Amino acid sequence: MRIVLLGAPGAGKGTQCKYIVDRYKLLHLSSGDILRRHRTQGTKLGKKAQKFMDSGELVPDGVIIEMMIDEIGRAPNGGYVLDGFPRTVKQAADLDKALAGRSEKIDAILNLKVDEGVIIKRITGRRICPKCAAVYHIENLRPKVEGVCDKDGSTLVQRPDDTAEVVKTRLKNYNELTAPVINYYKRENSVFDVNANEEAEDVRDLIFSKLDPLA
Ligand code: AP5
Repeated sequence: MRIVLLGAPGAGKGTQCKYIVDRYKLLHLSSGDILRRHRTQGTKLGKKAQKFMDSGELVPDGVIIEMMIDEIGRAPNGGYVLDGFPRTVKQAADLDKALAGRSEKIDAILNLKVDEGVIIKRITGRRICPKCAAVYHIENLRPKVEGVCDKDGSTLVQRPDDTAEVVKTRLKNYNELTAPVINYYKRENSVFDVNANEEAEDVRDLIFSKLDPLA
């Protein structure tokens, strides 16, 4: 299966992708995680992306499209779930073109719908492990020891773009540039809307009920 997971910043895309890849044995391709990996490694791409990411702006289409099409091209045959890409109509159209060139297409598009107040609480309370990228939340998903990653003992940090101020820019960009991607897909595909305001396990079960028939 090739899946696209759409949703505003903090909607729970990364959280749900973990459940999806476990159940359907897919590769998780998160454009945000890939960019953060480039930053940690100090690559040219990572340096280029830094100022856009930290201010809540989108990284230019040309950079992202090349990066993601390359990642998809290297994915094994088993399928993947795209998280955070495509995020503009141009990205979606270029992805379709690249897939068509290989006689492939996206099989399922899921749209996580969350109220803005919920988003702000989720984002400002998120903490991540700088080493293994595990995601926690100060209220909803606490580590066993406060401020310490369960998996590798690293000190948890707040992403630079997870402040209330930067979240406003991210949401504005989502509404102006990413929300139109939903209508782009609706022209030729079924888009499954998922109420993602609920607890993570309840959202997971809704997603499984949409994907199980396709697996
Ligand atoms: P990216 O990393 O993709 O950020 P995002 O889309 O803003 O998404 P988030 O990672 O913030 O949220 P999420 O939906 O994954 O939520 P999560 O599961 O962690 O992108 C970062 C930046 O990179 C962009 O701003 C841009 O600059 C650049 N970029 C990336 N892709 C790009 C592209 N295609 N084009 C251009 N630029 C690009 O959950 C959030 C928190 O809530 C967690 O703490 C979690 O524990 C908690 N939580 C999750 N679900 C629930 C639930 N159901 N109930 C309670 N708590 C929950």
